[in-house]
Amino acid sequence: MDSVSATELSTRVRGELRSSHAGETGAVWIYRGILFVQRFRLDRDVRRFASHHLDTEKQHLCEFEAIIHSFRGSLLLPFWMLAGYLTGSIPAMLGADWVYYTVYRVERFVDIHYRKQITLLEMNGSEANHQLIMMLQHCNADEIAHKDEAL
Ligand SMILES: [Fe+2]
Ligand SMILES: [Fe+2]
Repeated sequence: MDSVSATELSTRVRGELRSSHAGETGAVWIYRGILFVQRFRLDRDVRRFASHHLDTEKQHLCEFEAIIHSFRGSLLLPFWMLAGYLTGSIPAMLGADWVYYTVYRVERFVDIHYRKQITLLEMNGSEANHQLIMMLQHCNADEIAHKDEAL
């Protein structure tokens, strides 16, 4: 879905993509934070859970990176990386239940965030928006699966 150009998207939609790209960046770093702590505190279930989610979040991030020519990436990306890393590593130090609870809360937030974006895009049925809707729906299906798995 690299055919979306910046001129096809409204300023509002470009801003929404910037926030989702930042969020997916943060998500990758949440799972990196969990897996870093897992080097010292081995819990096979948490490790499997975080490794699987990390793979999915990397795919999501790649999808946003593939269309980053159509919006400006956030200048606060280093902050999102650090925030994600701490959001993953601190619960991982506290134990498995903290990891699952944190992931549940984060993915619940992301689910609501993507649903709002999809509704916004649906209000303008351009071809570019249609492609974005399909991408966001596919990402959100994974986020919902992550949320359910954490629960
Ligand atoms: Fe994601
Ligand atoms: Fe996710």
